[in-house]
Amino acid sequence: MKQELQKILEQAKKDLKKVKTLDELKDLDVKYLGRKGLLTEKLRSIKDLPNEEKKDAGQLLNQTKKSLEHDLEARAKSLEKSVLEAQLSKEFFDTTLPGETKKIGHIHVLAQIQEEVEKIFGQMGYAVMDGPEIDSEYYNFEGINIPADHPARDMQDTFFIKDKHDPDHQRLVLRTHTSPVQARTIEKYGAPLRIISPGRVFRNEALDASHEHTFHQTEGMLIDKNISLGHLKGTMIEFLSRLFNKDVEVRFRPGYFPFVEPGLELDFSCLLCQGKGCRVCKHTGWVEFMGAGMTHPNVLEAGGIDSTEYTGWAFGFGMERLAMMRYGITDIRLFNSGDLRFIRQF
Ligand code: PHE
Repeated sequence: MKQELQKILEQAKKDLKKVKTLDELKDLDVKYLGRKGLLTEKLRSIKDLPNEEKKDAGQLLNQTKKSLEHDLEARAKSLEKSVLEAQLSKEFFDTTLPGETKKIGHIHVLAQIQEEVEKIFGQMGYAVMDGPEIDSEYYNFEGINIPADHPARDMQDTFFIKDKHDPDHQRLVLRTHTSPVQARTIEKYGAPLRIISPGRVFRNEALDASHEHTFHQTEGMLIDKNISLGHLKGTMIEFLSRLFNKDVEVRFRPGYFPFVEPGLELDFSCLLCQGKGCRVCKHTGWVEFMGAGMTHPNVLEAGGIDSTEYTGWAFGFGMERLAMMRYGITDIRLFNSGDLRFIRQF
């Protein structure tokens, strides 16, 4: 018995050496350890041995079986490894190749400026409000003192939304300015107030280097007791000086907007020529910047604020104008063009 087992084991070892694939290894497993395998048959024949031999024979068989199983397993592992290596070498992978860089986008120049504007006004205690880009005719016009038959409507040619009616407030329009947020905020929060509202606005414009149908404004409004234009001047000097990191001067000129009284335009000193006169400021030393004025009592009252107790002012400026001034951009249409050669510069 012992010799027979020895023989089987030796034969198995020889067979094992010849095995080249996992399939061949499986056959070998069947040949020795399968249901009709050589070792299995020996195990089965133990029952025919005389009783005194059974124990030794059993032990020996089990040892042989274990040792064979161990060999088979070791061989399987090494075969698996070489199969994997063969596969890897077929799928050649050059570890010295430079990696594929993922292109990361960045924040659009206008959004960058908006963040700065929000930050500076935030530091001065202003809350940032949002308003809908599609608004009702009421908020865009009537609610801020521009009735339907008022000639001031011609200042802002409008895109109306066909067949869409807001049940409370007439037709819907693409807002022509951020001023509707004035009426919405007054209505919602009452006085006192200190807000800005940046956002996108739309006008039916004849397009050229300084006119676009879609552009961005920032509205500002301060309402409290005893507020004057002096506060507006101080606020804008502070804001512009922080934004441009330079001492900026401002001046008022009379201007007309139905929702303010008195109304005015604010210019700031040209930063390119320090007021000496250049192409950008059309040789005046001043850059037209924004509309502003003391909030009209009708606007306060329409939103439920007592205009004998509270006064305030509002302003609205174009964000593109700011970016154009800072970076020397000469065509407003570039902002919405989607031209990456432009966008990647900022
Ligand atoms: N909404 C005005 C415009 O777009 C600007 C403005 C805002 C003027 C607030 C006065 C007060 O032209």
